[in-house]
Amino acid sequence: MRFPKVYAVVAAVVAAIVGMTTWAWAGATTGAEPRPPAPAQANGGRVTAPLRAEHRELLPKIEALASAAEAVGTAPPQEQRKKVDESYAFLTRELIPHAVAEDEVLYAKVDSLIGTADRTRATDTMRRDHAEVVALTEDVGRLRDRLRAGTLHPADQKELRRVLYALNAVVDLHFAKEEEVYLPLLDRRLTAEEARRMFERMDRIAEEETAGAGAAPH
Ligand SMILES: [Fe+2]
Ligand SMILES: [Fe+2]
Repeated sequence: MRFPKVYAVVAAVVAAIVGMTTWAWAGATTGAEPRPPAPAQANGGRVTAPLRAEHRELLPKIEALASAAEAVGTAPPQEQRKKVDESYAFLTRELIPHAVAEDEVLYAKVDSLIGTADRTRATDTMRRDHAEVVALTEDVGRLRDRLRAGTLHPADQKELRRVLYALNAVVDLHFAKEEEVYLPLLDRRLTAEEARRMFERMDRIAEEETAGAGAAPH
């Protein structure tokens, strides 16, 4: 009866995680969100459509991170360099600027709607995801320099694959959490005009960040 026992343990762990997540969000929702009438739906659509569209544009490049990981150590050197260069450019010039804009504007809005407790913001776990993306991107940059210099050893290849796969998985899940939890909240609580102003600010911040990344040595 070895396997049933294993399944029972796995099921218990999954049930605990699901229970904790449900509890956390139920607490946040019932504690701080009064659920007023839905202004966005009254306007006949989802006010977060621009951000959802931006995510859809970014998703193929997130999938390309896994493809770059597969190429490291297996594809011809020129192809490896091209894929890793494209991954690094995407991370520094598109994804991180997107995350900075979210930190400053979108997450601040979510925090204002859900509230904070004991100096813990509702968005702190998602902000931590952003910090992880920055740290992993720095690892990609360091290993990419070695790849370009032709000094990427087998241990480095393994590390570069691991980092690129990690980025793919972390960002994939992160996008799902934003779309399934934060954006429905904003759709319910923001008017179309509030959302438009919010996305304008985000665009401005992301553009500045991209320009700054372009000015940095790469
Ligand atoms: Fe994000
Ligand atoms: Fe996002």
